[in-house]
Amino acid sequence: VISYRTDLDGITADQLAGFFEGWPAPPTADALLTVLRRSSHAILAVDDRGAVVGLINALTDGRLAAYIPLLEVRPSHRGRGVGTELVRRMLDALSEVYMTDLVCDNELVPFYERLGLVPLAGMARRNRHASVLATAGGSTG
Ligand SMILES: CC(C)(COP(=O)(O)OP(=O)(O)OC[C@H]1O[C@@H](n2cnc3c(N)ncnc32)[C@H](O)[C@@H]1OP(=O)(O)O)[C@@H](O)C(=O)NCCC(=O)NCCS
Repeated sequence: VISYRTDLDGITADQLAGFFEGWPAPPTADALLTVLRRSSHAILAVDDRGAVVGLINALTDGRLAAYIPLLEVRPSHRGRGVGTELVRRMLDALSEVYMTDLVCDNELVPFYERLGLVPLAGMARRNRHASVLATAGGSTG
């Protein structure tokens, strides 16, 4: 049974290891915990043993705009609706905000369309030297 929590009380970096699948220089679990703490919203999917199996976060001014930077479900728990539920709950939490944006690969467009989002063109910068990335500053991560 999966439960969903919006507080990070008692969550340790150890429980967040292994996320950022496929990133060339993934942020560390410590960095992820900091990211979640600093986010205006974070929702964790937790299994019945307390393991974190999925997460989503959002940054928002609470009025005009919100951005959803991260959504990830551990491979062992995919295909069972956890990702859908995380997005649904986050959109619910942001229901008073005018614009909610995220960036995704083309293959995920149908996933988000089912949740009521529409595709738009966008522009972005990715700073390969950002300190949150594990290889930045000489760390081997
Ligand atoms: C995207 C992701 C969060 C979905 O989580 P999930 O718990 O498996 O989602 P759900 O079970 O609610 O929905 C699964 C559906 O999403 C769609 N989907 C998920 N990943 C997909 C992909 N890479 N390509 C195409 N469709 C995909 C499929 O329609 C899938 O349906 P299926 O299970 O019948 O194949 C998960 O696959 C993941 O963590 N991927 C790696 C990180 C990522 O891509 N995050 C999104 C960043 S924008």
